[in-house]
Amino acid sequence: MAVKITPDYIDMLNRAIEREIAVSLQYILQHAKMEKLVRRTIPENILLDKTTYDAVGKFLREISIQEMKHAASIMERVYYLGGQATTKSGKPAIGDCISEFAKLGVKAEEEALTLYRQIIETAGKMGDWETRELFEKIYGEEEGHLFKFQEYTKFQDEKEAASKVPLPEWRKIYTDDYFTLLNKAVSAEITGIIQYTNQHEKAAFLELRMKNTPLEAITETNKAGVVSKILKEIFMAEMDHLEKISERIYLLEGEAAYKPDPLPVVGDTAQDFLRLDHALESSAISLYRQIIAEALKRGDTTTRRIFEDIIIQEEDHFWTFDDFVR
Ligand SMILES: [Fe+2]
Ligand SMILES: [Fe+2]
Ligand SMILES: [Fe+2]
Ligand SMILES: [Fe+2]
Repeated sequence: MAVKITPDYIDMLNRAIEREIAVSLQYILQHAKMEKLVRRTIPENILLDKTTYDAVGKFLREISIQEMKHAASIMERVYYLGGQATTKSGKPAIGDCISEFAKLGVKAEEEALTLYRQIIETAGKMGDWETRELFEKIYGEEEGHLFKFQEYTKFQDEKEAASKVPLPEWRKIYTDDYFTLLNKAVSAEITGIIQYTNQHEKAAFLELRMKNTPLEAITETNKAGVVSKILKEIFMAEMDHLEKISERIYLLEGEAAYKPDPLPVVGDTAQDFLRLDHALESSAISLYRQIIAEALKRGDTTTRRIFEDIIIQEEDHFWTFDDFVR
């Protein structure tokens, strides 16, 4: 290899991955909080505000996905350089209203720009042109995010003061232990998102190494290639679940979790990925059954229906992995 890769260099790239995962979660959770904010807008402002809320809600979701793609492309690069891409996430900062989202966004994007300038410079000095080019591209996109957030830092909305009115009787079913249970689902979804993204990139790399014949490359008969494709689709489904569950928690005035649990595990081969993912889906299904039972017991119909929909998809994921595990 022309470029000599040091552990420090891999660490620096992994720090970038941690950042990307954290902001991706930050923006998708903020997006999930928008529904609650819209319901609180003052009636006189509803038309004006609704347009802004819609616009911000939409771009938060878009950039969340873009940040996860950044994380994925840096993971891919780390695997190519012979390192192990991290599954850690930095700490997202959510906030309570649009102007707070925007200020936190400005802060996160500025920090990213500083780190990425450093990476571009280091990669350039080492002659690692591919990495430099990757980060130059990402840098441009982060700058776009920064400008977008700057537009909204002056938006006039306020954090709502905590209500002094006692909870109406029907709301008393939403206790702390109920939120703790729902947040186990949020954490499980985050684990899936990180685990599948990382494995997807590693599978793509394994596939490349394992292609022996041109025919194999065309027909995609090798397992890593097939697995890589499946993981990408399932990733989008988990993102959607995270969004729905956290939106529900925010609407019920709870706070969503942002940490993965169990910790994501990547594995070394396509067969490992399948085994690990099979187990992850399996435990999600058990957890979601428990949540459905609890929601039924408490009479929380909406939450029950959300999880009934999600569990159908998790079962589908389970069987997809199951096909390969046998
Ligand atoms: Fe990014
Ligand atoms: Fe960004
Ligand atoms: Fe899910
Ligand atoms: Fe799933």
